[in-house]
Amino acid sequence: MTERTHKTIEQAEQEGKYIRKVRSFVKREGRLTNAQARALEDYWTTMGLNHADGMINATSLFNNINPVVLEIGFGMGKSLVEMAKNAPNVNFIGVEVHKPGVGACIALAQEEGIANLKVYEHDAIEVLADCIPDESLTTVQLFFPDPWHKKKHHKRRIVSLAFVESIRQKLKVGGVFHMATDWENYAECMLEDMNNSQGYQNLSETNDYVPRPDSRPLTKFENRGQKLGHGVWDLQFKRID
Ligand SMILES: C[S@@+](CC[C@H](N)C(=O)[O-])C[C@H]1O[C@@H](n2cnc3c(N)ncnc32)[C@H](O)[C@@H]1O
Repeated sequence: MTERTHKTIEQAEQEGKYIRKVRSFVKREGRLTNAQARALEDYWTTMGLNHADGMINATSLFNNINPVVLEIGFGMGKSLVEMAKNAPNVNFIGVEVHKPGVGACIALAQEEGIANLKVYEHDAIEVLADCIPDESLTTVQLFFPDPWHKKKHHKRRIVSLAFVESIRQKLKVGGVFHMATDWENYAECMLEDMNNSQGYQNLSETNDYVPRPDSRPLTKFENRGQKLGHGVWDLQFKRID
């Protein structure tokens, strides 16, 4: 038996060995348009946040004490930029792994003159663990995460009991975790994980889903889903403990 087969994952990780994790995304190296590449080059220093820099201090990053909203997986960023534009007294932090999406988001934000938005191009799981202080966020948004339809791929879904518990830790007490999906089975799993997690209160009057809030603009994926006749399920849970 080789040395490797004797090790537990924990031992290997402690020794700094690379362990392949199940991730919620497959890195697509899509080509950057010229506008996206230029936006990344010109504005990364003002809008970009680097995972390697560790814990952030939102007050010094944004130079104010406004509430902070974190959005995970913003895609091309159109709805995130719209939200930031509609709420200039709120700070927004977006996290996305798809570089063209990050470039598109920065380009649009610059076009719109947005000053209350910063973005990571990194895995949100690692950003949450390493960069976001506990009890610092007023809202976490997760809109139309990849549903990983096939049962054998469900382990790739970003929402799990551990994930929703890590979100609760990052929210201030009274802060809200808002999810939306157009995949009914994923909505049911989200609801089950939220119900199994301590310290949250469902904001739904029917104890399941909430009507789509006006504050959430139509996202690109939602629009596509609507054209295919998909339903949409919004979940909002408040941190109470
Ligand atoms: C189905 S798309 C939805 C995009 C957007 N929210 C919308 O509604 O148009 C899901 C997005 O989440 C991103 N994503 C998946 N896992 C992620 C992770 N762990 N960290 C950051 N982004 C992630 C993907 O790259 C993709 O852009």
